[in-house]
Amino acid sequence: METEKEHIYALLGRNISYSFSRTYFTEKFKRSGLKDHFYVNFDLPEISQLPAILDQYKGKLKGFNVTIPYKQDIFHFLDEVSPDAREIGAVNVVKILKNGNLKGFNTDSYGFENSIKPLLRSFHKKALILGTGGASKAVSFVLDKLGMEYLYVSRRSNQGSGSITYKDLSAEVLNDYPVIINATPVGTFPDIEKTPDIPYNLLTSRHLLYDLIYNPSMTSFLKQGKSRGATIKNGLKMLEFQAEKAWEIWNS
Ligand SMILES: NC(=O)c1ccc[n+]([C@@H]2O[C@H](COP(=O)([O-])OP(=O)(O)OC[C@H]3O[C@@H](n4cnc5c(N)ncnc54)[C@H](OP(=O)(O)O)[C@@H]3O)[C@@H](O)[C@H]2O)c1
Repeated sequence: METEKEHIYALLGRNISYSFSRTYFTEKFKRSGLKDHFYVNFDLPEISQLPAILDQYKGKLKGFNVTIPYKQDIFHFLDEVSPDAREIGAVNVVKILKNGNLKGFNTDSYGFENSIKPLLRSFHKKALILGTGGASKAVSFVLDKLGMEYLYVSRRSNQGSGSITYKDLSAEVLNDYPVIINATPVGTFPDIEKTPDIPYNLLTSRHLLYDLIYNPSMTSFLKQGKSRGATIKNGLKMLEFQAEKAWEIWNS
């Protein structure tokens, strides 16, 4: 039986029954003895259903994570947005403030920054970001902060001056940009054989391949890098860091 003392957190998204977040927070609450804390999924076909859900959980819901496809759409429902989330253009954490207002944050950038930083070497000054969606914007926000140069790599040729296409990935470009970040969903379970269309034969031990994907933990993209001696990293640490930052925000 639910009581007013319950603390409820949630993940808002679509088709999220196998989400990382619910398992992560449920185990965290159990480990920490937080018996009155619960984490549920708001698996909504349409985000227009959100106000009714928020009403249903009024007084108990402390905050929620936001995932695909609602990281941009959620802006319409927010009363306040943190400067970082505003600049990135995507919100993945919402806090319910004491007055009931909804404030949006982006903790993907925090997760990415803290997971890639320990791997960066002195010659890792330039990066290629594969994909131009919401996650790529959190990545470029961090690269700007770290003072790294970057180019987006898109399937489309109309993405502006900071962007090239997969066909432009020459030996010179690969040599010049030793950090390659996969911010596309290509290679995610169940399509685990798929890889972003880059010239893998040009990879060396100077390269750092970072995949935002965490399922599978070893994508074909990372496998290809590993076999050529590149440093590799999957998206699991990023996910854990962003979840811990969300927890900090909800409790501050
Ligand atoms: N580890 C974490 O904590 C974390 C956090 C956030 C996101 N992610 C992961 O990051 C990935 C990207 O997220 P997102 O929200 O930005 O996704 P998205 O908007 O669906 O896609 C990102 C971009 O990938 C490119 N793309 C999409 N489908 C493609 C295909 N079939 N072939 C080649 N390129 C394709 C597109 O760029 P172009 O059209 O310009 O080619 C698209 O804008 C997802 O796998 C997501 O799960 C992980």
